[in-house]
Amino acid sequence: IPSLPDGYILRSLEENDFNNNLIPVLKTLTTVGDVTKEEFANLYSEWIANSHVYNPLVITNREGKVVASGMLIVESKLIHKCGKVGHIEDIAVDLSEQGKKLGLILIKNLVELARLKNCYKVILDCDAKNTGFYEKCGFSQEGIEMGFRF
Ligand code: ACO
Repeated sequence: IPSLPDGYILRSLEENDFNNNLIPVLKTLTTVGDVTKEEFANLYSEWIANSHVYNPLVITNREGKVVASGMLIVESKLIHKCGKVGHIEDIAVDLSEQGKKLGLILIKNLVELARLKNCYKVILDCDAKNTGFYEKCGFSQEGIEMGFRF
């Protein structure tokens, strides 16, 4: 795993990251909507109470500001002898910090976390425009995403 630039830190998401650039970072990925501090606190509690499943990581810059964010979800299955599958979700790097290997370092750490949690594979869905990035992270195309929207 390449090392982070000096002064950058990779750590678990903290509750006060809500007011520390987390939302602008996620807006590089998709619509976030109007989430109140209280709604975030409830969600964060749910993640903490289920920390064997939810593993949100962030990278902060020299000013301590969140500049990258991503989640590993560990799914416990019946198949593959009660195997575990890691799902990588909601990867986003602040626009001003893209191209510094932060995305790659985040993914490599999420994959390593999945390995440590005994997942037999890690999967994710992405846009065609991002396949080159995930290939650089060691992934290869395996399937086709299907969706059903309500
Ligand atoms: N296509 C091809 N190659 C790419 C792309 C791309 N879209 N993005 C980066 N790369 C390459 C880089 O050039 C670099 O290659 P190198 O090692 O040869 O120099 C390598 O991949 C690593 O790039 P990073 O610097 O780590 O990329 P970055 O930190 O900018 O993060 C990311 C990439 C996460 C796609 C970022 O641009 C981003 O946040 N985009 C907007 C949100 C988004 O699309 N997130 C992914 C959603 S999919 C999901 O969440 C599962």
